Amino acid sequence: MVEMETVGWLPVILSVILVLLNLKASLATFAPADYYLIACGSPQNVTFQSRTFTPDSLQSSFELKVQGNSIAATSSSSVPSPIYQSARIFTSSASYKFKIQQEGRHWVRLYFYPLPDSPHNLSSSTITVITDDFVLLNNFTFKRYNGSYLFKEYSINVTSDALTLTFIPMNNSATFVNGIEVVSVPDALIPDQALILPPSSTFNGLSDLSLETVFRLNMGGPLLTPQNDTLGRIWENDMKYLHVNSSAVNVSVNPSVIRYTMSVTPETAPNWVYATAETMGDTNVPNQNFNLTWIFPVDPNFMYFIRLHFCDIVSKSLNSLVFNAYINSDIALRSLDLSSLTGNLATPYYKDLISNSSMDSNTLTVSVGPDTVADITDAILNGLEIMKISNDARSLDGLISVEGLLPKSSKKSMIGILIGSALGTLAAVGLIAFCYCCLIARRSKTTHQGHPRLPLPVHGNSQTMTKASTTSQKSGTASCISLASSNLGRFFMFQEIMDATNRFDESLLLGVGGFGKVYKGTLEDGTKVAVKRGNPRSEQGLAEFRTEIEMLSKLRHRHLVSLIGYCDERSEMILVYEYMANGPLRSHLYGTDLPSLSWKQRLEICIGAARGLHYLHTGSAQIIIHRDVKTTNILLDENFVAKVADFGLSKTGPALDQTHVSTAVKGSFGYLDPEYFRRQQLTEKSDVYSFGVVLMEVLCGRPALDPALPREQVNIAEWAMSQQKKGMLDQIIDPTLVRMVNGASLKKFGEMAEKCLAEHGVDRPSMGDVLWNLEYALQLEETSLELTEPEDNSTNHITGIPMTPLDPFDHSVSMIDGVISETDDYHQEDAATSAVFSQLVNPRGR
Ligand SMILES: *[C@@H]1O[C@H](CO)[C@@H](O)[C@H](O)[C@H]1NC(C)=O
Ligand SMILES: *[C@@H]1O[C@H](CO)[C@@H](O)[C@H](O)[C@H]1NC(C)=O
Ligand SMILES: *[C@@H]1O[C@H](CO)[C@@H](O)[C@H](O)[C@H]1NC(C)=O
Repeated sequence: MVEMETVGWLPVILSVILVLLNLKASLATFAPADYYLIACGSPQNVTFQSRTFTPDSLQSSFELKVQGNSIAATSSSSVPSPIYQSARIFTSSASYKFKIQQEGRHWVRLYFYPLPDSPHNLSSSTITVITDDFVLLNNFTFKRYNGSYLFKEYSINVTSDALTLTFIPMNNSATFVNGIEVVSVPDALIPDQALILPPSSTFNGLSDLSLETVFRLNMGGPLLTPQNDTLGRIWENDMKYLHVNSSAVNVSVNPSVIRYTMSVTPETAPNWVYATAETMGDTNVPNQNFNLTWIFPVDPNFMYFIRLHFCDIVSKSLNSLVFNAYINSDIALRSLDLSSLTGNLATPYYKDLISNSSMDSNTLTVSVGPDTVADITDAILNGLEIMKISNDARSLDGLISVEGLLPKSSKKSMIGILIGSALGTLAAVGLIAFCYCCLIARRSKTTHQGHPRLPLPVHGNSQTMTKASTTSQKSGTASCISLASSNLGRFFMFQEIMDATNRFDESLLLGVGGFGKVYKGTLEDGTKVAVKRGNPRSEQGLAEFRTEIEMLSKLRHRHLVSLIGYCDERSEMILVYEYMANGPLRSHLYGTDLPSLSWKQRLEICIGAARGLHYLHTGSAQIIIHRDVKTTNILLDENFVAKVADFGLSKTGPALDQTHVSTAVKGSFGYLDPEYFRRQQLTEKSDVYSFGVVLMEVLCGRPALDPALPREQVNIAEWAMSQQKKGMLDQIIDPTLVRMVNGASLKKFGEMAEKCLAEHGVDRPSMGDVLWNLEYALQLEETSLELTEPEDNSTNHITGIPMTPLDPFDHSVSMIDGVISETDDYHQEDAATSAVFSQLVNPRGR
């Protein structure tokens, strides 16, 4: 009997042990194989968010390689939080190389704060950080964000036994870092695949890409810090991103009731995230049928990984909550019934999505709302993560790749290696190189009879070349490599161009400019193109031809006309561009019988052009100045999307340590910056001036210079400025706009144009500011349209309230391209934890 009893109990005991083991397995917190918390430049351990950061001077498991000097600096004044107390400052490139025990995803978290009392002026230094493969930060500066600090979090898949973080000072200024974290992340956290929208399809290959956390929210709940999160993450309250604060009702339960599953563990998100939520509930709005919407500022040039966290903590019974989720205006989850997915209440569930930012918008919206099929007017969201996905250049900041940012000395050695291997291997590589060299030899022969060709060394005109290209064009061998590795677009044969333009048929002529004639063409595959054929006699033409190819092949932006290729056969200088069906902006403003543009269309066109110029000024390591901004160089595609064209005169520079480039004055009369004209010093503010002239032309519907008018009216800049100063700008606007424009929008626009036309460059706004103000003017116009046309139901928000992420004028510094300033709700003791990803925090507030 006794024996039998024991046998009878055995399975029960065993299963209890198994259950306990299971429980233990699922409750065991993740132990990161790699765990580096570094307080850079600090003489002692720093405790921050209950974690210990050790000094970078004492490490054995990582190497710090510095080419020049490194200085450890400690601040004696008060700093936002302990991790910002010290910094390591570099005057030339420096790397931290971390030994990696376990390959896979790692958090890389970086802390920056320009110590006010350091030996270098850190607030004017630039910050560029790369890993072995990815650009994390490119040329960031605190210049305009006095007293702010910056926290960044990246997720990087390390596929070797080391991770190197390289800090590159630019333009002779120093660079610095205050703190670094490199910590393993569980492999399962970020999948390789996710649903991408729009159009709805599957995206593969996330595991090869890097991510940057831009928002991580705990809906309806408190701020969570690394103390509350096993993976050291920060979760912020969602309130300030809610489109209409009063539309949401927050709910919460005791975190201990959350039932984790095999697929959703505390590593996915802490139970604090699932235990609180925003719901529609019994809300304060008259119409119960609406969406809960959150709005985020994003960079339209990137795709974003979005994770929605759900947990039904409101229903009393199963299957009583069914709703839809949207990203922008696309449906992401239809008739989502959490109970049928999880089989239980209070059980977490998440869904990953990728937003394919094909929208021309600085904002990303996430909405949940009732499903009309189910007769339930409630919806829930518990948590939300938004991460920027690295682009084709393997960058999370701009379009320059790691190769483009490596300091010159290491670039040279890379070229050396390339040459070495090409010479060393008499195999396919050598053969290919040989072919290219033959090609060059063949071309250089013809050069002596005609004009020097693009891939050849250029000595006379080197200031129009970028540094990268001059270094690679020192010798024949180098230029051979440069041709092989450069990306100058497609090379067209002259015959192809002849075929495409029907032998330069004059009936296909689109325009004639200083450089030559522009024809409409059709390539063999049916693609419509614009073919610009340079006048072969013009020496200036040759320099411009070269500049334009080099500029455009480096630049890709929705608001810049893209270069498809070129032809330099038979002394020709031919550029092939994308075709812009609606031609130059000017032809829609005056002098033709094309239909007049509405005010909204004009604003959108100006915003597009401003975005293109803003990108030129800030999108790459070097400032690019267009120098010939005018209404004929702003082209419109078939959807009236504006693109900036004609880079023949553009220049790079000034380097950041200079304030201007001295040059011979070039540009178009009527648009020329008077300061540039007087002092021959070119800055990006010269483009701002010319853009101011464009704005006035758009507003008044007349040319920049009109000699037929009375003397005081000839020059639009002078005339419009004198009217604006008298408060009479509305007297001279395009007659077709009269009474069709919202007064506030017009006023904003006029003020902006006036600022652009300021006498001195320093008084003019940056293109980023211009962009913001124009967007604001557009919002004013749209709001007034919405109020007068209440039937507008195309948007997923409550009508009458403009969709805007954060009012730029409510913040002491503006947000441009993902650098967001935060000036509200600062708590001294909790500074770094209230710092939001990618956001720059100004501890002084206003
Ligand atoms: C600093 O922290 C490390 C790691 O926690 C610890 O091993 C070391 O003893 C600490 N050093 C001092 C001086 O407290
Ligand atoms: C990291 O990249 C490697 C190589 O592409 C891949 O095999 C691995 O699954 C990736 N790991 C993660 C966690 O994405
Ligand atoms: C919610 O937003 C989506 C997407 O914009 C829209 O299609 C839907 O009609 C909206 N629902 C309500 C009730 O406004």
